[in-house]
Amino acid sequence: MRIVHKVSDLHTELSDWRAGLESVALVPTMGNLHAGHASLVKRARQLGECVVVSIFVNPLQFGPHEDFERYPRTLAADAKLLEAEHADVVFAPAVADMYPAGYPPLTSVHVGGTVAETLEGDFRPGHFTGVATVVNILFNLVQPRVAIFGEKDWQQLQVIRRMVADLGMPVRIVGMPTLREADGLAMSSRNQYLQPDERARAPLLHAALQAVATATAEGRRDFDVLCAEQKAVLENAGFRPQYLEVREPDLTPPREDSARLVVLAAAHLGATRLIDNVSLRL
Ligand code: PAJ
Repeated sequence: MRIVHKVSDLHTELSDWRAGLESVALVPTMGNLHAGHASLVKRARQLGECVVVSIFVNPLQFGPHEDFERYPRTLAADAKLLEAEHADVVFAPAVADMYPAGYPPLTSVHVGGTVAETLEGDFRPGHFTGVATVVNILFNLVQPRVAIFGEKDWQQLQVIRRMVADLGMPVRIVGMPTLREADGLAMSSRNQYLQPDERARAPLLHAALQAVATATAEGRRDFDVLCAEQKAVLENAGFRPQYLEVREPDLTPPREDSARLVVLAAAHLGATRLIDNVSLRL
């Protein structure tokens, strides 16, 4: 496994693979890797002959009062995990390597519409533009045949699918299920911000989503009432929910004839912002 920081070194590293016409699988991350990330790398190992993992805490996708500064940066531990997962190349650039003409970039990729401009888009203005832009840059630098993303960030996955479809990018996007702790809490680098008492309550977010999904599977369609009930449960447990909604997989409102629905939520618990979702087939 090779760790490279510079774009020129990335190209040198990949040119050997490309000379053999090996297919490249990319897993974009912000590091501080856990078993959820590892599951994406395992999938990449099955899908590509050369597995590239990027580690870059992308300032462009953080709001001015968000956690860019305190986001955990743990390259040595990440490298160990990736070595164990048999990654081939780790690309860990600095801001100046990713945005060589100057930061912030003058060019960005903006995905519009319901897929990007509701839910996370409402509460984190500019976030998905930051994500789409950096993923576009990574695709240009790495030129993967396939890229793997987690359903943990359901809306992000849909935004990237839409960007790839709209712009004709020659990359297959593969989504992977959310890995959870034994008590249901979705694994996340941000979980370590939780104080012990908050960590004990954090699984209630998944439980609330699951309650809406179960009631829906049993035939209830009064989504507004259902979601309001579960928001109240979360508020009583000390969460500050931002949204809890039922949507079609593409984030449009639920239809009469839905084959699959997704329940999505974001909530603050103390100083930590948690997001999660569950999907159900009907
Ligand atoms: P990051 O939060 O590091 O996540 C990297 C990838 O891991 C994403 O595709 C995310 O959905 C997936 N992931 C996170 N937690 C997971 C879990 N518990 N189970 C399965 N997959 C999980 O998402 C980002 O970084 C950034 O926005 C990025 C796409 C790298 C662009 O900067």
